[in-house]
Amino acid sequence: MPELIEPEKHCNTCPRLTTFRQENRELYPDYHNGAVNNIGPMDAEIMILGLAPGLQGANKSGKPFIGDQSGDLLYATLSKLGYTNGEFHNGNAFTLNRALVTNAVRCVPPQNKPTAAEINNCRPYLLSLIDNMPKLKVIFALGKVAHDTALRTFGLQVSAHKFMHGCEYNLREGLWLVSSYHCSRYNLNTKVLTEEMFLSALNQAQKLSTQ
Ligand code: URA
Repeated sequence: MPELIEPEKHCNTCPRLTTFRQENRELYPDYHNGAVNNIGPMDAEIMILGLAPGLQGANKSGKPFIGDQSGDLLYATLSKLGYTNGEFHNGNAFTLNRALVTNAVRCVPPQNKPTAAEINNCRPYLLSLIDNMPKLKVIFALGKVAHDTALRTFGLQVSAHKFMHGCEYNLREGLWLVSSYHCSRYNLNTKVLTEEMFLSALNQAQKLSTQ
């Protein structure tokens, strides 16, 4: 297996994200304020691929999706499908089974919007992670940025693999991409995504991963 390459906590590849982190360190000295790596086992069958750490969630806790509303729905849904040991209690006292959670961009971006260059700079970390997950069968992408990132990681054309809730594409032999609307507070409040829709897409991904 190749060596797993992870960004350093104070990675400074992206100037805009480095400046934003420095500002956040002043404002929130107790927060993690660094690149956020993965949680979950490397022998997972499914990878949950988010967008980027939320300022008041992963950027605070240091763990992807822990501490904000999108994470509450994500982990509660993973729990319903048997991917957690123990109940999900606001990020504490649970571990993941057979699922690993990560983000397309590892550092918090201003307004939750990474630039194309920032997404490109982070893609080698995703590729290295995939190369180190021998049992990976499905990447479950949350939102269009994660969807496009997964496609580009495999050299596939974005225009030929349109993002839709519940879409399913083959990335390479034995590895599937299933995508969902992002479980963000905005999408939930505007009913673009409901809890039922999210459960159904994750269930679809789970079925593919156990085939
Ligand atoms: N928290 C994350 O870690 N990623 C997201 O995409 C949203 C919130």
